[in-house]
Amino acid sequence: MRDETSYRTIAPYYDYIMAHVDYDAWGRYLARLWKKHGMDPVGILELGAGTCPFARRDVFPPKARVVYSDLSPFMLTQAPVLTPDCRVAANALSLPFKGPFDLCLMVYDAINYLMQEEDVSLCFKESLRVLAPGGLFIFDVTTEANSKKHFHHAVDYGEMEGCTYFRESHFDREARLQGNDFVFFVEGREGNWRKVKESHQQRIYKIDRLKALAKKAGYKVEGLFEGFTFRPGKEGSERVHFVLRKPA
Ligand SMILES: C[S@@+](CC[C@H](N)C(=O)[O-])C[C@H]1O[C@@H](n2cnc3c(N)ncnc32)[C@H](O)[C@@H]1O
Repeated sequence: MRDETSYRTIAPYYDYIMAHVDYDAWGRYLARLWKKHGMDPVGILELGAGTCPFARRDVFPPKARVVYSDLSPFMLTQAPVLTPDCRVAANALSLPFKGPFDLCLMVYDAINYLMQEEDVSLCFKESLRVLAPGGLFIFDVTTEANSKKHFHHAVDYGEMEGCTYFRESHFDREARLQGNDFVFFVEGREGNWRKVKESHQQRIYKIDRLKALAKKAGYKVEGLFEGFTFRPGKEGSERVHFVLRKPA
């Protein structure tokens, strides 16, 4: 993602396009991860929360205070009704929070939208700053294996009320860039149709490189997990969850 204009047109259709994603199971997996690492979080900050799928589910402990944030205000406004102080448009590279939070989350490839290593380092630095000592940062990344298998010269489309979309995905292995080009045909009030394009780009980082950047930022890397398992995450995994700890 390059700027605030991405994740704009897609916002009202995002949940439909992602209807195949089992967020209930993902939420249960995340809870198992933080419990496994001895965390019972009260203050929680979600970065890149998009349309806030976890705000519609019982993912967090009942006593938890959760702040959902995303770079795109268009995505956040699709979230269920949340009070303004717990739904904040924010860039993960420059967070408008002091914390301290017990847990930071950044889920479903959101880290891959940070286009440069410097951005990832800034995100690590900022999350570390707002975490309490001993706090956890849990995020996942999509990998080269995933891009090659599912997103190289792949095309799909969908139809919903008032919108039809096409998506073309491609993976540039040299540049380690995963692109998703969308064309939306959106029905207007007068029954006319508008064609709108929106492109998303993701950087596919090497797992070892992310590990090194996290350590350099000051995190202790406590776990790398493959997909939604507790097996070790590695370069050949299609998704890897990271568990980072801010030293006490
Ligand atoms: C694939 S979506 C995931 C959204 C949500 N976490 C989910 O699971 O559905 C990636 C999200 O990352 C957000 N994003 C991209 N760059 C960001 C940044 N620098 N800071 C905060 N959010 C960002 C996008 O706006 C988008 O909502």
